[in-house]
Amino acid sequence: MAIQPFSTAALKRLRIDPADVPQHVAVVMDGNGRWAQKRNLPRTEGHLRGEEALFECVEGALELGISWLTVFGFSTENWNRPKSEVQFLINFNRETIRKRRDELHERNVRIEFIGREDWRMPKRLLRDMDEARELTKNNGAMTFTVAFNYGGRAELVDAFKAMSADHLTPKQITEKKITHYLYGKNIPDPDLIIRTSGEQRLSNFLLWQSAYSEFLFLDTLWPDFTRSTLYEAVAEYQIRSRRFGAL
Ligand code: IPE
Ligand code: MG
Repeated sequence: MAIQPFSTAALKRLRIDPADVPQHVAVVMDGNGRWAQKRNLPRTEGHLRGEEALFECVEGALELGISWLTVFGFSTENWNRPKSEVQFLINFNRETIRKRRDELHERNVRIEFIGREDWRMPKRLLRDMDEARELTKNNGAMTFTVAFNYGGRAELVDAFKAMSADHLTPKQITEKKITHYLYGKNIPDPDLIIRTSGEQRLSNFLLWQSAYSEFLFLDTLWPDFTRSTLYEAVAEYQIRSRRFGAL
């Protein structure tokens, strides 16, 4: 079932200006492990609860009329975690894609992925990613992008390598051109980047794209994130005044 976006009146009740809803929200979902630790549960339980929070966030974004939602699923640095956790996260992400694909499709959501498709990515996972992308490619309610095996520096390295392979001359190298060589070339820059769990850093997420993003750091641990947290984040975003370096 498609999710109806909120009416103007409903948005106003949430103190959200319908004319200033961020077009693109990106999220660093952090704190799953600590959420579990606090409850004497295995870290994996935190990831499982984090998946529910993620789909709360997706539905909240659809209600608010956000057009692009990007989340950090697995970073190029996450391979350095203990092997059992890496294994868990890979399987878990694959299961999540398979489990949620049809539901997202029914909600008219287009699924995208950004990241490096290298030898460490299991073939099965790549196949499931392609299928999800293909199934949902014509959907128009929102583009939901999962950054998987993603690192902002790796993305720039890959872009520069591709530009070099295409023999671009110095004159041809512009900001616009570099953007064209990034993984998600048609994804607009994020207006708002949210990170949960009290950590205040970017951790190699969307380095190029975040040049003028508003940052919101929340103490909430990711599994406790609900659609109301997203509404509040957007209300907070609207209080900020964005000048893009001008006056
Ligand atoms: C975020 O939670 C999930 C991923 C990075 C995959 P963490 O696993 O980083 O949880 P903490 O930071 O240890 O609490
Ligand atoms: Mg963490």
